Amino acid sequence: MSSHTKGHARHDTALIHGLSGSEVQTLSETCIEAKGRAYCPYSNFRVGCSLLLTNGTIVQGANVENAAYPVGTCAERVTIGTAVVQGARKGDIRAIAVATDISPPASPCGMCRQFIREFCELNMPVFMYDKEGKSTIMTLEQLLPMSFGPEKLLSTDEIANGGRDDLARSTSELGNA
Ligand code: THU
Repeated sequence: MSSHTKGHARHDTALIHGLSGSEVQTLSETCIEAKGRAYCPYSNFRVGCSLLLTNGTIVQGANVENAAYPVGTCAERVTIGTAVVQGARKGDIRAIAVATDISPPASPCGMCRQFIREFCELNMPVFMYDKEGKSTIMTLEQLLPMSFGPEKLLSTDEIANGGRDDLARSTSELGNA
């Protein structure tokens, strides 16, 4: 076996943010394919998206524009919305991939970052593919630091108590209050 082949074999078994080489390959192929389904007659900016779910399923989507421009929806929200109505919830999405026709690759817009935050772990990888199919990878937390999510909302008890103090709560949970 040549050293080149050995190197390739080693690469194939390495995990990229917990994903195998073939899972990453599937994500790249499916988000690039989804880009071809974009409905974007106004911007001509195609965005394809795919999700890898924990059950191995791939969910695809693309941006869907509208003559009333602000009504159009980004590929990421179309795709996550599709997965959610199919039953996916937080913890079910292992990775998200987005493909556009620009280099360096586009990253999800601010609204999509927040939409993703509702359903994905902060350490979930976001694969961003450029027009050549080359990728940049960042975690959701890198794209959306200090983010707001459902666990930040107050329970009725916390509202009655005037809010939440995480330090006081963790101290009392330890029995030191
Ligand atoms: N777009 C996405 O689908 N995802 C993003 O994160 C950025 C922008 C779409 C929206 C619109 O259809 C087109 O790209 C140009 O903004």
